[in-house]
Amino acid sequence: MKIKYFGHSAFLISSNNTNILFDPFLKNNPLSKTQPENIKADYILISHGHGDHLGDAIEIAKRNNSTIIAPFELGLYCESKNVKVHTMHIGGAYDFDFGKVRLTQANHGSSVIEKSGIFKNSPNIIYTGNPCGFIVEIEGKNLYFAGDTGLFGDMELYQKYYGIDVAILPIGGNYTMDIDDAMIAVDLLNPKVVIPMHYNTFDLIKVDVDKFVNKVEKKGIKAMKIEYDGEFDI
Ligand code: NI
Ligand code: MN
Repeated sequence: MKIKYFGHSAFLISSNNTNILFDPFLKNNPLSKTQPENIKADYILISHGHGDHLGDAIEIAKRNNSTIIAPFELGLYCESKNVKVHTMHIGGAYDFDFGKVRLTQANHGSSVIEKSGIFKNSPNIIYTGNPCGFIVEIEGKNLYFAGDTGLFGDMELYQKYYGIDVAILPIGGNYTMDIDDAMIAVDLLNPKVVIPMHYNTFDLIKVDVDKFVNKVEKKGIKAMKIEYDGEFDI
């Protein structure tokens, strides 16, 4: 399987001619080179409603007739925009044609903010349930995409009972884990490969990604810093 990174938390996994897109924040991502019209996706997994994750999902889903996979309330929001949706919820798993998807908890918020409130400049905040992460089993490997989250102890259960091959973790701090907490997550998950995400897109989440990569590699775990639009085999 191949994994491609578009910056922030946007990834595309390709396996057996199926394209699985995660949190496609492209158009308003100041660092992204790829635009939504250049993406082909069969499935779009969305971890929560925030604009830097829901991103261009609706537009891409409409153009590709993709199926969106999201927590129930966020899924209903997407359905109201006339796209195909498969809703799930935390702790639930489902066997799709490409593999099994399991929704995990994420310690964060989830809302869509439409700036069309009654009062000028007042945001209209639509809460979209709980945020999530995903454990996706493809080609016999378990990929854990943590979404936006702080550190939590149940990551250890994922390692103990599911086994995590690839961990995709936020490291930017402020809204999510920072490098130090992500290192604790690496300890709990004990994956074979770690991929950092959710960093450097905005000033608030600027970090030294090489510092994280070095710390992970010192533990004898492979760390992949993927350049924007970079792709590699896992
Ligand atoms: Ni968020
Ligand atoms: Mn975010």
